[in-house]
Amino acid sequence: MKLTKLADSFTLSNGVGIPCIGFGTFMGKDSGSFTAAVKAAIDAGYRHIDAAARYGNEADVGRGILESGIAREELFVTSKLINGMHGYKNTHAAFKETLADLGLSYLDLYLIHWPNPIKFRNDWAKANAESWRAFEEIYADGKIRAIGVSNFRAHHLNALAETAKVAPLVNQIRLCPGEYRQEIIEESTTRGMLIEAYSPLARGATFTRDALKKAAAAHGKTPAQICIRWCLQHGCIPLPKSSSAERVKENADVFDFELSAEEMTAINAIEDRENWSKDPDTIDF
Ligand SMILES: NC(=O)c1ccc[n+]([C@@H]2O[C@H](COP(=O)([O-])OP(=O)(O)OC[C@H]3O[C@@H](n4cnc5c(N)ncnc54)[C@H](OP(=O)(O)O)[C@@H]3O)[C@@H](O)[C@H]2O)c1
Repeated sequence: MKLTKLADSFTLSNGVGIPCIGFGTFMGKDSGSFTAAVKAAIDAGYRHIDAAARYGNEADVGRGILESGIAREELFVTSKLINGMHGYKNTHAAFKETLADLGLSYLDLYLIHWPNPIKFRNDWAKANAESWRAFEEIYADGKIRAIGVSNFRAHHLNALAETAKVAPLVNQIRLCPGEYRQEIIEESTTRGMLIEAYSPLARGATFTRDALKKAAAAHGKTPAQICIRWCLQHGCIPLPKSSSAERVKENADVFDFELSAEEMTAINAIEDRENWSKDPDTIDF
């Protein structure tokens, strides 16, 4: 399907539509409420919001959703299970807290944020299996429309598959010009999962690389817009974050041009290993 606007969707393998660009809500070092940014994104036409308990701002995000005045069923809202709450009972409790913080009665997508948090490092596969059992129950109850994972590599997916009754529908990974790792993408897509691209702008780290600058000049676009378009043309869902209403709009203005095969190849080849995502099995959180 040709994508023409923010609300156009990819389809998950359970048939649920997912708007092709999500609005990222990780604030990093930003301070203050993120409510206005979420509202500005929805005003600009975003219909997909990527939240997480770990970001500590679900109440602000929920307020932005409420203040937008857009009907809940027109939005696609994702959240993620926080690292310290893996396991069956914990997951049920964490999910309830997330819903309460966001002020919502259901989620469109719920993800296991991290496959191997330090707290469960000795028994991560069991902790994920137990969380997934809770995910499947909540999904069966209709309180989540789709379930998936984030930062999972092949061995995490294989371990989960040993007990899962419902296969994950999404893997959210770091994907941007600078970190294009086909093997990680294929690990998920061969299992029928859709890839969501987090940090799709590489937080600006590769904006000055030649391939991006050249494509930007050729199409009269900014490097950020080229990054977002590149993700879409790979069949992945970019999740750009911005607290600026201007850049929120800029990041959505990517439907009136197409990158050539040569431009895609040149951007694929940008490598920025220094900023690659960390090894999920050794990181200290
Ligand atoms: N699953 C995970 O483990 C995981 C990890 C990281 C992120 N995520 C998700 O992915 C989302 C996006 O990732 P991210 O926040 O790490 O990075 P990103 O979206 O690649 O980059 C965000 C940074 O780029 C700036 N920016 C945004 N639009 C711009 C533009 N048009 N021109 C120049 N600069 C621009 C933003 O600044 P301003 O705000 O000042 O515009 C911000 O500093 C997160 O918000 C979160 O929802 C998930």
